[in-house]
Amino acid sequence: MNSVIEISHLRKEYDPVVAVADLSLSVPAGSFFGFLGPNGSGKSTTIGCLTGLLDPTAGEVRLLGESIRPYPVALKGRIGVMPENLGLFEALYAHEFLAFHARIYGLDEATTRVRVTELLEALELAGEGKKPLAQFSAGMRKRVAFAAAVIHRPEVLFLDEPFESIDPAGVALMKHGLRQLTAQGRTVFMTTHVLETVERLCDRVAIIRSPGDLVWEGEITPLARDLPVAAGGGEFRTLEALFLHLTGERYATLGWL
Ligand SMILES: Nc1ncnc2c1ncn2[C@@H]1O[C@H](COP(=O)(O)OP(=O)(O)O)[C@@H](O)[C@H]1O
Ligand SMILES: [Mg+2]
Repeated sequence: MNSVIEISHLRKEYDPVVAVADLSLSVPAGSFFGFLGPNGSGKSTTIGCLTGLLDPTAGEVRLLGESIRPYPVALKGRIGVMPENLGLFEALYAHEFLAFHARIYGLDEATTRVRVTELLEALELAGEGKKPLAQFSAGMRKRVAFAAAVIHRPEVLFLDEPFESIDPAGVALMKHGLRQLTAQGRTVFMTTHVLETVERLCDRVAIIRSPGDLVWEGEITPLARDLPVAAGGGEFRTLEALFLHLTGERYATLGWL
């Protein structure tokens, strides 16, 4: 198996909190990988470590064949990331922000102009040129962050809750772009709580439980992507059932409610 991400014994502590205890995971090239787990289970921390936003406490990670401890600067140009805290520059207009990203990644001026225009149009932001990013709605901000993450055609794209607060049209646009990326053999590593979307888009899934413990990893067959998930030998008819089984199904009874 040709893996683009190889995580072995990754650990990240925010003293005294252990956010990721001992995570080992391989992500095959060209896969659309769903990284799932309950709130606080260490997903964003893992993405932070994989993209160089956070320093792992221990463990080894190889990304596109290279060790990321320390993180090679050139490698950052080959990945894209839409982090949890989007990190937009509030005073900029969307086109300025995207052009800034494109130039950081070394795109020339002509390519930058074409891609910025096309991305703004594709993500239906072309009419929002008069507002700085500070005045963008949550969904519009996500669209801009998505555009910034893909503008340089990354080989591996990391998405942390990309669909949160995005309207159905925006989700459809993003899904279309993501399918296009993986069809070209690029890899997407995504966290989301929208399990129906995972069933439709992802071909592999890892489920972690707090803090960063892998409890299930496997393939969702193309057949099962449109039908109930085959995971768990047919015992679990949906990804949601498998997820709740592995991470603990809880229904608190609020007597006063
Ligand atoms: N900057 C931080 N300082 C201290 N603890 C943190 C910090 N960021 C995350 N944590 C803790 O690490 C754990 C994992 O968080 P996170 O990776 O954000 O989980 P997830 O993305 O799966 O919801 C949680 O217990 C969270 O409270
Ligand atoms: Mg998170």
